Amino acid sequence: MNSDIERVLYSEEFLHDTVKRLGEQITEDYKGKKLLLLGILKGSVVFLTDLMRCIDLPCEIDFMAVSTYGNGVKSSGTVRIIKDLDRDIRDCDVLIVEDILDSGMTLSYLMELLYARDPGSIKICTLFDKPDRRKVDVFADYSGLCVPDEFIVGYGLDYAEKYRNLPYVGILKREIYETKE
Ligand code: IMP
Ligand code: MG
Repeated sequence: MNSDIERVLYSEEFLHDTVKRLGEQITEDYKGKKLLLLGILKGSVVFLTDLMRCIDLPCEIDFMAVSTYGNGVKSSGTVRIIKDLDRDIRDCDVLIVEDILDSGMTLSYLMELLYARDPGSIKICTLFDKPDRRKVDVFADYSGLCVPDEFIVGYGLDYAEKYRNLPYVGILKREIYETKE
């Protein structure tokens, strides 16, 4: 285990089972629709690449990049679009794929922005949810796991761009970020 990790929360196998369950549910719900998986860079990359292989339907993928955190562990509250979609979404059933729903600021901003583009439908799939920290009302249509109010890393989630490549998800030792804040 990486020595910056306090405790492993979810093993690779456990994450795989969770993603498989979400994929099966999405496969049921999106039959006959024009599914576009919209990954929010960079945190959702690992989740999205696993999830798409658990969806037994034709689908497309695209990405948007946003920034709310900088190098901190708390959202700055200001959402910046760094990369927008390449395409029109008017004919698509958009499923936003996010790593973690925390304050909800990022997804509420994105939902409003994308809704105005008049997609066929728009829903949210998040792997992790920290409901205790919600500041704005956002509802995830698909949610993998509820997590405690701790800063977690791995399986795509980072702290200051590190730890995304850990195959498991763990709680980051407080000393790693408290000394830098
Ligand atoms: P929100 O706008 O506060 O909901 O923040 C969502 C974004 O914050 C996620 O997409 C993550 O990039 C980041 N984030 C929130 N909590 C964590 C965490 O525990 N670990 C890593 N990133 C996090
Ligand atoms: Mg993210």
